[in-house]
Amino acid sequence: PYYNELYRPQFHFTPDQNWMNDPNGLVYYKGEYHLFYQYNPKGNTWGNMSWGHAVSKDLLHWEHLDVAMKPDELGMIFSGSIVVDKHNTSGLFKKGSGGLVAIFTHAGDTQQQSIAYSEDNGITWNKYNGNPVIENPGIADFRDPKVFWHDDTNKWVMVIAAGKRIQLYSSQNLKNWEYMSEFGEGMGAQGGVWECPDLFEIPVDGNPNHTKWVLQVDLNPGAVAGGSGGQYFVGAFDGKTFKTEQKAEEINWVDYGKDFYAAQSWDNTQQRRIWMAWMNNWDYAEKIPTSPWRSAMTLPREVGLKTTEKGEILLTQKPIQEMKKIREKKHQLKNRNIQSDNIKFPKIDGQTQEIVAEFELGTADEFGFYARKGDEEFTKIGYDVKREELFVDRTKSGQANFSENFSGIYAAPLKAAGNKVKMHIFVDRSSVEVFGNDGERVLTNQIFPKPTSEGLEVYAKNGEVHLSSLNVYKLDSTWK
Ligand code: FRU
Repeated sequence: PYYNELYRPQFHFTPDQNWMNDPNGLVYYKGEYHLFYQYNPKGNTWGNMSWGHAVSKDLLHWEHLDVAMKPDELGMIFSGSIVVDKHNTSGLFKKGSGGLVAIFTHAGDTQQQSIAYSEDNGITWNKYNGNPVIENPGIADFRDPKVFWHDDTNKWVMVIAAGKRIQLYSSQNLKNWEYMSEFGEGMGAQGGVWECPDLFEIPVDGNPNHTKWVLQVDLNPGAVAGGSGGQYFVGAFDGKTFKTEQKAEEINWVDYGKDFYAAQSWDNTQQRRIWMAWMNNWDYAEKIPTSPWRSAMTLPREVGLKTTEKGEILLTQKPIQEMKKIREKKHQLKNRNIQSDNIKFPKIDGQTQEIVAEFELGTADEFGFYARKGDEEFTKIGYDVKREELFVDRTKSGQANFSENFSGIYAAPLKAAGNKVKMHIFVDRSSVEVFGNDGERVLTNQIFPKPTSEGLEVYAKNGEVHLSSLNVYKLDSTWK
């Protein structure tokens, strides 16, 4: 299918029609990346929560499949994850075989955890007849189990949101679960209920012999840009408890834009840790002006950890290599001084672009890009030199009157790296994702400009900035 409706993303995942929220059950299996997601098969707002399903060979081109799980007598099918039960620890598969097991929240009178299994590579799902596998322990918000195999202690581990904390459970067979520990009291951002946690081990500075654990937790409301968003903690996990050296009041935001929620990482991808999030915000999610679908996913991103000059460990997110496959026409500039006269790029105008830029600070106190520029609208992506902030201004980006919480300017702290500021930007029909300094900071925001607002300009304010290099690519649609 070729999607061409107003605002329909061209290289971001959207359901064919109807409402979508969190990514669920992300797993790589037999050469395919699976993407399940919170889905309403019956309408374009939240309800009848089911798991929609799509698969891809490259995380870019997706094939829509039938709805995988629908509500039943235990309730709706809320968020959760999928693991590969290679050795049939669950006993749910035929002798000598294995398969996929989904662990999810059944949301009925209470929130409880259940499992389902698939013997045909994720196409059809059988709910386990002993559900729920974890009954509600008296915590109203008890949901979004993310499960992984923990090699060192030879067992399955579940991280789950419980009020404003996360809890850890373990199991030998995915059916019987034992409570292990809790994390989060008074830690980090506490302005809203915690949801959709993820926990994984990744190398620091790309060194496989030096790893740390990352605990990603979303909260709604109380995020940095208002409404819902994600935070993370870096620490250690010994098979039982997660510990961080982070001070209780310290908050690390995953993304400084308004539209990055419920990130989940793919299971079973070997060296790479890749995650994707729902590109929306509960502040206005059900009101965004799109139909017959509502909500897109962010681009998949490779997650890493990096030691800063100060010795802190920072989460980084980078666009995956595969993105290069959809690059089309290219426009290049090198070693140019930009002054108050904006440089336009008429040849590269369009609704889908990738912009890779490196600036060297000069006398200008602000510089960057006007994207999706039309007669009266634009989205500004800039660097504020005095404040040392990377920002996205969507106050004039197009349609915004569907919610008072939509319009705004969002900023992330970002220090120039030896006088240099890098911006890597993906512009789609209804979103802008900005990666600063090799993924040290990211801002993800939806925009709803007119289709005719296709201009791109580079600017500098009150002085000059040196543009060391700029590559702009037109991007192809992934839906052809
Ligand atoms: C997060 C969330 C989850 C829940 C799901 C329901 O966006 O509220 O906590 O499982 O959405 O659709």
